[in-house]
Amino acid sequence: VTGATEAAYDAAGSAYQHWRWSRLWDTLEVDVVLEELPTQGRALDAGCGYGRYAAPVRVRGLDYVGIDISDVQLGLARAAHPEIAGQLVRGDIVVMPFADASFDAVLCTRVLSHGASLDAASGEFARVLRPGGTLVVTDISDQHYYERATIPTESGEVRLPVKRYAQRDLAAALERTGLAIERCRRIAEQYATVPLLDVTVARKLAAR
Ligand SMILES: C[S@@+](CC[C@H](N)C(=O)[O-])C[C@H]1O[C@@H](n2cnc3c(N)ncnc32)[C@H](O)[C@@H]1O
Repeated sequence: VTGATEAAYDAAGSAYQHWRWSRLWDTLEVDVVLEELPTQGRALDAGCGYGRYAAPVRVRGLDYVGIDISDVQLGLARAAHPEIAGQLVRGDIVVMPFADASFDAVLCTRVLSHGASLDAASGEFARVLRPGGTLVVTDISDQHYYERATIPTESGEVRLPVKRYAQRDLAAALERTGLAIERCRRIAEQYATVPLLDVTVARKLAAR
């Protein structure tokens, strides 16, 4: 799963960022995610891509660390944010090179629908969050037709691998790892008949 995803995002390169769907996340998603985050401490952007959230998360008051499987997307993030290049790490969100309880917040925006194990990713989010820390996950709704979309690039169309999952399955996986669900929201485009984005907010419980 990760190999195909990595290859697709490497091939998409900067075309991903300028794709019409990607632009839509700037208007529909970014503020929704930001308002759920704390205003100080350390935030981990799991599957950070080209670094869409790097500036707004820091403006909110958090230190920013990003991890992504695609070298090309990370290169774009480092080029756009050279001052934090050292905080942008290559790796898989299901086995992250970060210490236990080392983050106050984790955000993971439209990454899990590329097929990472919900249990493995949830376990890693719970592990790296401090007790009381916040997790915000967004993803394409399982009712949406996004998987049919392709990214136009100079060397052809790139199709992203998409593996649908239901928001309730994510919520169950998070709960199994000691994260308490605070909110589940759905965001739709105006006049759309199907929801577009699922937003799930959870909190790491204190150790029992
Ligand atoms: C839809 S993009 C979103 C990027 C960023 N979160 C944003 O909001 O712009 C998904 C990103 O997740 C990365 N990704 C997918 N599966 C991953 C995994 N298992 N570990 C790390 N990164 C992953 C991809 O390389 C890609 O950059």
